[in-house]
Amino acid sequence: MKILVTGGTGYIGSHTVVELQQEGFEVVIIDNLSNSKFEVVQAIKKITGISPDVEIFDLTDEKKVADFFRRHSDLTGIIHFAAFKKVGESVKEPLKYYRNNIVALLNLLYAMKKHSLAFFVFSSSCTVYGQPDQLPVSEDTPLKSASSPYGNTKKMSEEIIEDTVMSSGIKAISLRYFNPIGAHESALIGEMPLGVPDNLIPYVTQTAIGKRDHLRVFGGDYPTPDGTPIRDYIHITDLAKAHIVALQRLIRGRNKRDYEIFNLGTGRGYSVLEVIKSFEKVSGMKLPFEIVDRRQGDMEQVWADTSLANRELGWKALKDLDEMILSAWEWEKALGKNS
Ligand code: WQD
Repeated sequence: MKILVTGGTGYIGSHTVVELQQEGFEVVIIDNLSNSKFEVVQAIKKITGISPDVEIFDLTDEKKVADFFRRHSDLTGIIHFAAFKKVGESVKEPLKYYRNNIVALLNLLYAMKKHSLAFFVFSSSCTVYGQPDQLPVSEDTPLKSASSPYGNTKKMSEEIIEDTVMSSGIKAISLRYFNPIGAHESALIGEMPLGVPDNLIPYVTQTAIGKRDHLRVFGGDYPTPDGTPIRDYIHITDLAKAHIVALQRLIRGRNKRDYEIFNLGTGRGYSVLEVIKSFEKVSGMKLPFEIVDRRQGDMEQVWADTSLANRELGWKALKDLDEMILSAWEWEKALGKNS
């Protein structure tokens, strides 16, 4: 069975392509390389022995999308990752985010309807919850108004998908990621932020390898046990595996509704200082950091109730914080060797 993975050379996309291939799926990638490098394709081939078919173009180009689907009429399903994801950037350039993230989705859904393609797995985010009133956050926790244009594109996308499912034969699952971190055990693929990392873990490993002077901890005065914000970090491979399970649920007709939503987290939150402590433990290094002002738009604390995915998908995140962070560190060191 052939699966389209949009954004398949990206961080989550590449790890999912590896898992799909190892499950025996044939994969075709569409990517515009706006936030990833083509070398990732060679790395995937090194891991699985199979080179995915790759087409480089922008999903906001309706003609190119239509042409692609004419040439790939044998697709079984789509896993849609391709989107801009920088929260801060989305505040500065909202139209760039609305055009890219929404038009790409619309083009895909139109093509799915035209070609009666049925199965769609969507990359969503816990950011749609905002700062929940109670924790852990479950799938029926009421969504708050988005805390950024990026988060709003995820909320709008979920609504567009739900409406489209109701009016077509499409069956869809949205997966709301908490904080994906870490790298594949081979250290051949991992998080590769272009430029200065926004996210915590790549900033930690780049500081440790000497690319950054020190880590700034954004805020030490939150109402949390150690004053730093808490997040539900989940290993990228655990996250990738959940996509295969969700896709197979649709293909095998095990979905209970035409549109379903699942949280993908570990159910356990860790603070920034706990992450630093874990890094120092697994690396044997001291991490230079200073506590500075809060970052605007940050949530205070979020972690997932993962019982629905555990029960309905039969899926559970397996790796603990130390394993996640060690894999990120191994990847950073491997990057350093190859650059
Ligand atoms: C984690 C914690 C920061 C960097 C974002 C998006 C979310 C998803 C994942 C796309 C926070 C702190 C960070 C640093 C720090 N992206 N931090 N110093 O903000 O939870 O989630 O990325 O889907 O949608 O919102 O992740 O890694 O940026 O931050 O102290 O240099 O680390 O304040 O508490 P976040 P993050």
